[in-house]
Amino acid sequence: MKFYCLLLRLLGILLFTLVLILCGVGFDYALNTSLAASPDKPTTDLSSQLKQILVSAAPSNQGLNYFILPDSSEIDRIPADPNNPLTPEKIRLGQFLFHETALSINPLNPKNWQQSSCASCHIAQAGFRSNLAQGLGVGGLGFNKLRHRDPDISSVQIDKQNILAPSVLNSAYQEVKLWDGRLGVAGPNAKEPVIQSNDVNRFKLHGLETQPIDGLTFHRLGTAAIASIPEYQELFAKAFPDRPYVGADVEDTKRAGLAIAAYERTLLANQAPFQKWLKGDPNAMSEKELRGAKVFFSSSCVQCHTGANLALTDFRAVGFADHPEEWSGLNLGRGAITKRASDDFKFKVPQLYNLADSSPYGHGASFNTLREVVEYFNRAEPQKLEALYAGNLSVWFRPLNLTQDRVNDLTAFLETGLRDPNLTRYVPERLPSGLCFPNNDPLSRKQLNCD
Ligand code: HEC
Ligand code: HEC
Repeated sequence: MKFYCLLLRLLGILLFTLVLILCGVGFDYALNTSLAASPDKPTTDLSSQLKQILVSAAPSNQGLNYFILPDSSEIDRIPADPNNPLTPEKIRLGQFLFHETALSINPLNPKNWQQSSCASCHIAQAGFRSNLAQGLGVGGLGFNKLRHRDPDISSVQIDKQNILAPSVLNSAYQEVKLWDGRLGVAGPNAKEPVIQSNDVNRFKLHGLETQPIDGLTFHRLGTAAIASIPEYQELFAKAFPDRPYVGADVEDTKRAGLAIAAYERTLLANQAPFQKWLKGDPNAMSEKELRGAKVFFSSSCVQCHTGANLALTDFRAVGFADHPEEWSGLNLGRGAITKRASDDFKFKVPQLYNLADSSPYGHGASFNTLREVVEYFNRAEPQKLEALYAGNLSVWFRPLNLTQDRVNDLTAFLETGLRDPNLTRYVPERLPSGLCFPNNDPLSRKQLNCD
C-alpha cells in the first residue's frame, strides 16, 4: 500500500514538473512571437533582446548602424544627390530660405504679400508637418494649430492641397518625393521612364532637390524681393561661388531650391530617445518604450518602416481613406502616375519620427491620434472599401492580435521613443529680411510676438 502511495506521489511530481516545463516552453514561445515581455523584467534584458531583434531586422553586417541617423554636422554621412553636394554655406542659405516670408511675392490677393513660407506648412514645432488636415500657405492666418483660412479672401486664393502635408524630417532618406513619389529620377523612379520624362523631373535631380525648385513657384514664392538684400547676395555668393549673385530668373529659383534641399537633408531626428539608445545610452528609453520597440521591430511594422528614417522608399496599400477635400473621388496614389493597376491605392511609406508633435495622420488625414493608427494596424480592416483594392492591399496588412498592453507600449514607442524633443535647433534665430517668420500675417505676428 505504502509503496503504491509513494509511486503515485512520484508520478504526481513528475507530471507536475512536465506541466511546468511545457508551460515554460509555451511562455517562451509567446515571448518570441508576440514578445510579451513581463513588465518587471530588468531593462538590461529588454535592451539586449531588442538589440538582437534589430540586428536580425537589419541587412547582414549592418547591425544597429542601419537604424542610426547621423549628426546634422556630419554632412559626409547624410545621403545626398551627387548633383547637389552638401556644403555648410548652402545649408545655411537654405535654412533662411525655407523660413523666409520675403519669398512670398506672388499671392493671388495682394493683401497676402510676404506673409507665408515653406515653414507655414512644414513647422519645426509640429515635427515639420502642418498640424492641420490641410496645410495653409498663402491666405492662411495664424501659426501652427491655430492657423485657419482668411475668411475675407476667396478659397481659390488660398494655397492649400487636398492631401496631408508629410514631414520633411529625415527626408534625406527617400530619393523620391510626394505621397505618389512622382518627384525625382533616382530610387524607385530610376526604372520608370514615364515618370522620368515628366516635365517636373526636367532637372534630372533627386526628389528632394526637385520639390523646392517647382515648389517655390507652386506655392507662389520667388527670389525677386530678396535680390536687393545685401546679406542674401553674400549668402548666395558663398553657397554658389560659380554664380555669385541672386536675381529673379529661373536659374535663381533653381539655386534657391538646391539650397533649401541641402538644408532639408540636415533635418534629422537624431536626438530622439530611440536614437540615443541605439548610440549606446542604455537609459535613453523607458521600459515601456523598449517593450514598444520590441513589438514594432518584431511585428509587421518593420516590413515597411525600416532603416534610419523607419520608412522604405517604396509604395504600399494599407487601406487609409482619402482626404475629405479630395475632389477626384478616389486618390489612386502611385497608380495614377505609373498607370499600372497593380500600383493603385499605394502610397509612399512615411517616416515615423516626431509624429506626436502634430496631427492628423495618413495621406487623407483620416486618423486623429497615433493610438488610432496603431489600433487600426492591429485590427487591419481597411478604411476604404476593401473590394476596391483588387488584391493590392499589402500582405503585411493583417491582424496583429496585440493585447491592449502591447498596443499601449507600441503607442508609447511612437509618441515619445521616436520624438526628438529639440527640433527648434533647426530654426534660424532671425531672417536676413528681418520679417516675421515662418508666417507674417497680422494674426501670426501677434502669436509669434513679432509686433
Ligand atoms: C500650403 C502648404 C504647403 C506649403 C506652403 C509647402 N508645402 Fe511642402 N507639402 C505640402 C503638401 C500638401 C505636400 C504633399 C503633396 C503630395 O504628396 O501630393 C507637401 C510635400 C512636401 C515634400 C515631400 C515630402 C515627402 O516625403 O514626400 C517636401 C520635401 C516639401 N513639401 C517641402 C516644401 C518646401 C521646400 C516648401 C517651400 C518651397 C513647401 N514644402 C511648401 C504642403 C505645403
Ligand atoms: C505594408 C506596409 C506597412 C506596414 C506593415 C505598416 N505600415 Fe505604417 N504606413 C505604411 C504606409 C504606406 C503609410 C501611409 C499610408 C497612407 O497615407 O495612405 C503608413 C502610415 C503610417 C503612419 C502614419 C504616418 C503619417 O505621417 O501620417 C503611422 C503612425 C504608421 N504607419 C505606423 C505603423 C505601425 C506602428 C505599424 C505596425 C503596427 C505599421 N505602420 C505597419 C506602410 C506600412
